[in-house]
Amino acid sequence: MTYVIAEPCVDVKDRACVAECPVDCIYEGERTLYINPEECVDCRACEPVCPVEAVFHEDDLPERWAHYTSVNAEYFVSLSGEPGRSATGGGDHPLIAALPGQHPRKKGISVFAIRKEEAAEADLWFPS
Ligand code: F3S
Ligand code: F3S
Repeated sequence: MTYVIAEPCVDVKDRACVAECPVDCIYEGERTLYINPEECVDCRACEPVCPVEAVFHEDDLPERWAHYTSVNAEYFVSLSGEPGRSATGGGDHPLIAALPGQHPRKKGISVFAIRKEEAAEADLWFPS
């Protein structure tokens, strides 16, 4: 059994969970963090501190994120070549790397596009 970090963490990476984990089994990738299932001791300290509710016990994962148990586990296999080895960080699981951007506010062009649209709807002047 293990806890799992699911999709809400992607591009957020609040890292509050890392400070709580007593066995340091939460590792950072490019776009998300991953829990090493071989090291997690199921203490649950990480779950309540995540501001975007990205952490779940593997038995409680919502159906749409059921594959995140594998995503977390495979991240460590792909980095070290052996399951259960601590990762050194960097990179992402291929499924995470392939996700579209989760948070358009982090991208200036998208923010501009959203604001301009809203301004047009509200019949407000907006610089072009
Ligand atoms: Fe991610 Fe939440 Fe931890 S956003 S880094 S799982 S506190
Ligand atoms: Fe750490 Fe959370 Fe497991 S705090 S030990 S990753 S349940």
